[in-house]
Amino acid sequence: MGNLVEAIASLRGKRVLLTGDTGFKGSWLALWLLEAGAEVYGYALPPLRPEDHFNLLGLRHRLHHCDGDIRDRPQLSQFFQEAQPEFVFHLAAQALVRASYQDPQTTFDTNIGGSVNLLECVRETASVRTLIYVTSDKCYRNQEWLWGYRENDPLGGRDPYSASKAAAEIVFAAYGDSFFATRPDFGYGAVRAGNVIGGGDWSSDRLVPDCFRSLSANQTLLLRHPQATRPWQHVLEPLSGYLTLAIALSEHPKQFSGAWNFGPQAEANRTVAALAQGIIEQWGSGAIAIAPQDSPWHEAGLLHLNCDKAHHQLGWRSRWDFNRTVAETVDWYRAFSTGAAVTHKSIEQIQRYLETVDD
Ligand SMILES: NC(=O)c1ccc[n+]([C@@H]2O[C@H](COP(=O)([O-])OP(=O)(O)OC[C@H]3O[C@@H](n4cnc5c(N)ncnc54)[C@H](O)[C@@H]3O)[C@@H](O)[C@H]2O)c1
Repeated sequence: MGNLVEAIASLRGKRVLLTGDTGFKGSWLALWLLEAGAEVYGYALPPLRPEDHFNLLGLRHRLHHCDGDIRDRPQLSQFFQEAQPEFVFHLAAQALVRASYQDPQTTFDTNIGGSVNLLECVRETASVRTLIYVTSDKCYRNQEWLWGYRENDPLGGRDPYSASKAAAEIVFAAYGDSFFATRPDFGYGAVRAGNVIGGGDWSSDRLVPDCFRSLSANQTLLLRHPQATRPWQHVLEPLSGYLTLAIALSEHPKQFSGAWNFGPQAEANRTVAALAQGIIEQWGSGAIAIAPQDSPWHEAGLLHLNCDKAHHQLGWRSRWDFNRTVAETVDWYRAFSTGAAVTHKSIEQIQRYLETVDD
């Protein structure tokens, strides 16, 4: 991992296609790839809000972006044919647990059907040599136990989102066994990360965006599940894992193909209340209260990942601890709140992250 800077530099001039580039993680990955000098192609639904990171960074004008639906196989296929990518990162998804309860069908169509479309496009596009397929830590059958989930633990999901991600994993494994294992010079990884936080996320029903919306309006933040524990990690952490894996796969495709966890250090497994409190302390003001339990929907209570495989085989490990993660997140939203140009802030954070990797 010490040579992540060098490894990422090897993407200069490479054709990289990512789905979900208008989203939170996708916009950061697109920026990182552009900074590395890659030729980036993005496919996703249009950004939802003017303040979305994709818009703030002006990504529509910096990469080859197509507004498209992952469920539209002909359009996706056409985009693959135009892009002729060597690397593919699949991030497009209906990514919210509560939205999956409200509209399970869209969640399943997007996260399973859309992923099948993506895999078919990869299958029919000979230029693709490396596939990173993003699912979630929620793909594991949650046993509410203390131990971290390993890549070979059983999959499952009580809520539609988690089930859709577990199903997407099973589909991925079937494509691997049926088609990809014998494809020459082709590497493929399914990647599972924890709860990602950082600047530029404005999704509804996520703690950090809810927090900053409340803070900037001087309102009390209402917490739904204050005692739920999550593996909080800065967005650059899993992205560094995806990039590390992509480069390893491009060099040794068969050795590294398979499933990978990219979670935070164990000390970052904190409660929702602890994260909200940490943000308020860094911000310098704010108050929290417990929301009435108005929802009949189940949300996982305890969940964390064992990342020994990524550590031992890829040399990857999480670099920013909980306090640093909170500090960098608050730093970004503070810059945004003062009207500063966030492109500069986001690039500065990527550079700071790379400096810690080289420590
Ligand atoms: N944010 C997290 O904490 C987290 C944790 C684990 C896994 N993940 C996974 O990481 C990936 C990215 O998550 P995110 O946080 O950036 O989500 P996000 O909601 O910010 O972005 C989702 C992206 O997918 C696109 N998308 C959604 N439906 C689509 C469709 N039908 N057709 C084309 N594009 C579509 C959106 O336009 C957007 O670009 C997802 O696969 C998500 O499940 C996220």
